[in-house]
Amino acid sequence: MEDPEIKYLFEPRGVAVIGASHDQSKIGYKVLDNIVSGGYAGRVYPVNPHGGSLLGLPVCKDINDAEGEIDMACTVVPANLVFDAVKRCAQKKVKFNLIITSGFSEVGNREEEKKIITYAREHGMRVMGPNIFGMFSATSSLNATFGPKSIRSGNIAIITQSGALGIAMIGKTAVENIGLSVMASVGNKADLDESDLLEHLLQDDATKVIMIYIEGLKNGTRFIQVLQNTTRQKPVVVVKAGRSRRGAMAAASHTGALAGSDEIFDFLMKQSHVVRAESLVEALEWSKFFSNTSLPLGENTVIVTNGGGIGVLATDACEKHGVKLYDDYDVLRESFSEMMPSFGSTKNPIDLTGQATSSHYDSAFKASLENSMIHSVTALYCETAVFDIENFSPVIEANYRKYNKAKKPIVFCLVGGEKTEAAINALKKRDVPVFSDPYDAVSCMGAMYSYYRSRMEPSREREPVSIDVSIIEAIIRKVKEEKRSFLLPDESEGVMKAMGIPIPQRTIARSLDEAVVGSERIGYPVVMKIVSKDILHKSDVGGVALDLLNRKEVIEAYEAILYNCRREKPDAKIEGVEISEMVQSGVELIVGGRIDPSFGPIVMCGLGGIYVEVMKDVSFRALPLDRKEVIDMINEIKSHAILLGVRGEKRKDIHGLVDTIMKVGAVIQNCRGLSDIEINPLVVDEKGVKAVDVRILVSTSG
Ligand code: ACO
Repeated sequence: MEDPEIKYLFEPRGVAVIGASHDQSKIGYKVLDNIVSGGYAGRVYPVNPHGGSLLGLPVCKDINDAEGEIDMACTVVPANLVFDAVKRCAQKKVKFNLIITSGFSEVGNREEEKKIITYAREHGMRVMGPNIFGMFSATSSLNATFGPKSIRSGNIAIITQSGALGIAMIGKTAVENIGLSVMASVGNKADLDESDLLEHLLQDDATKVIMIYIEGLKNGTRFIQVLQNTTRQKPVVVVKAGRSRRGAMAAASHTGALAGSDEIFDFLMKQSHVVRAESLVEALEWSKFFSNTSLPLGENTVIVTNGGGIGVLATDACEKHGVKLYDDYDVLRESFSEMMPSFGSTKNPIDLTGQATSSHYDSAFKASLENSMIHSVTALYCETAVFDIENFSPVIEANYRKYNKAKKPIVFCLVGGEKTEAAINALKKRDVPVFSDPYDAVSCMGAMYSYYRSRMEPSREREPVSIDVSIIEAIIRKVKEEKRSFLLPDESEGVMKAMGIPIPQRTIARSLDEAVVGSERIGYPVVMKIVSKDILHKSDVGGVALDLLNRKEVIEAYEAILYNCRREKPDAKIEGVEISEMVQSGVELIVGGRIDPSFGPIVMCGLGGIYVEVMKDVSFRALPLDRKEVIDMINEIKSHAILLGVRGEKRKDIHGLVDTIMKVGAVIQNCRGLSDIEINPLVVDEKGVKAVDVRILVSTSG
């Protein structure tokens, strides 16, 4: 829920600096100086027990001595004085406190941080930080940071978790001629986080694009919901640090182990229609492109080049970044043959050849602009001796402006020596999207198209999946009463039945005779597995036998399984063996659902079986989901073509697979106490799906 007062964080009517120092080298002085010299129009109150005056302003000895209303305080006193300062701000009814001070949870001082936040929240004050460099808001000309004095106003909002990088980015934006609507540092995110700021930026007319630098998430479920709302209206570019899988390795299920936080982050960003950049430079380039360019009217793109090699590099990059090359060769020939030498190519890339001059490019740009079938252009240039780059720069800039008016995105890539580099720098300063590597130019276009496609998607209603969860919850209660963390096979079977997911026929045998009778009733071939509350990983102890074809094999397997389990787990209480139908045909998939510590309820599907963790061909989504999103998720698996039927095989029951994923999602989301459901393999053939092996874990907390 958006804080109704959040606008006062961006447009405070009065700002106090707690710890405004008389020493010009201190952070408390710099923050005050930046606020005053940045042109902030509201009232500014320096606060320092020494009193006096600073930068022409009277210094209050206590914030409560100030007469006017104060919406924002910037706290810049040492960590041990922050709690007291926060208390005084609360008395003054300050709405937002930007705690710049370091020395809290980032160095293990969690208790103090918690005490401060709890007090602030109890007294109606929100906290940004601690451990931040402050924030800039163009709407109120407020530079409440200890970063550079002058920040160029514009339409890009940047939210950063790292303070130092944030300050560096302010410098970088100045060099790159990037204008900011907001620069906010969220630091330890002890109270306000990216989601709170996004909710405001979504409504903020001054912000056209949002860029986020993120290291870790505290409330992933809310973040994803807010991102999904935001990207329906504005592009969001995310750059995330931290690709570690360490945390995930400890997880108890495949879904957990495969959910390396970075991979899953990637999937969830796609689901939220966020464009994820690999580096800060890329993120800034994309943000600038989004901020200066309208979305295209379609997906047909052409590459115009004077070199074959660079054209091929760009073509490869187009494939990687999902940029679609227009391939109606008749239309292309008609548009471009006029300006083309006989040895050029009107196929896409449009190769004007090494003898091209500025006027050839100009004609090609004109032809693309006039052709309504062409929606965007990537222009490539390799330095040659036949024309001077200095003549080319005005052509580039003029065409860029014409294209912008016509809502046709165009990017340029110029490769060459000193003169070319100088032209790139000059054009960049004039906001022209120009790069020195074709890959970077195309990645920019790819980010634009990725966002374009998400905006073109019709909005859909999510249909609820109806499952009676009371049966499942009763099973979970029993498991918890027995202090187990996992369900036994018959309990998992009960869950599958409650969910309406087909399972193979099976029976529990408590003697050799029962094993033989059971196998004959089910029909050969059968599978045999040990049943014991004390054995979770059955194969590891030799507790599984597959493909038993007759009575003799059943007798041998029964004896072998009991022998193996007694030898490997002598203390395990063995309740019998499970005999089940051997599901023979079909594709083995894995479908899982879990409560992820960062992202909340998520589902996974992918290629299953015993090689699941080796192949890692899986995709993830956060819940809730609709059918279209589940289909997208299935299509993202590299081996999804197998489901369509290869080499004369019939198409598998994708509909049944979608249903299964939706059901797993609904149960993991709605059944309190479940932490993981994993069906591996879920065998999918042309007639339907069957959950052959199911592992269900309950949460150990609560
Ligand atoms: N109310 C108001 N002012 C007070 C109070 C009070 N209760 N108590 C002390 N002050 C005054 C002091 O008298 C001093 O003013 P003076 O210089 O005129 O005497 C001023 O507050 C500052 O106090 P100092 O003790 O001098 O503290 P100092 O400025 O050295 O450090 C700071 C304070 C900057 C908050 C420091 O503790 C800190 O956390 N530094 C790191 C900040 C940081 O890096 N944040 C993360 C940014 S992101 C990044 O990584 C770049």
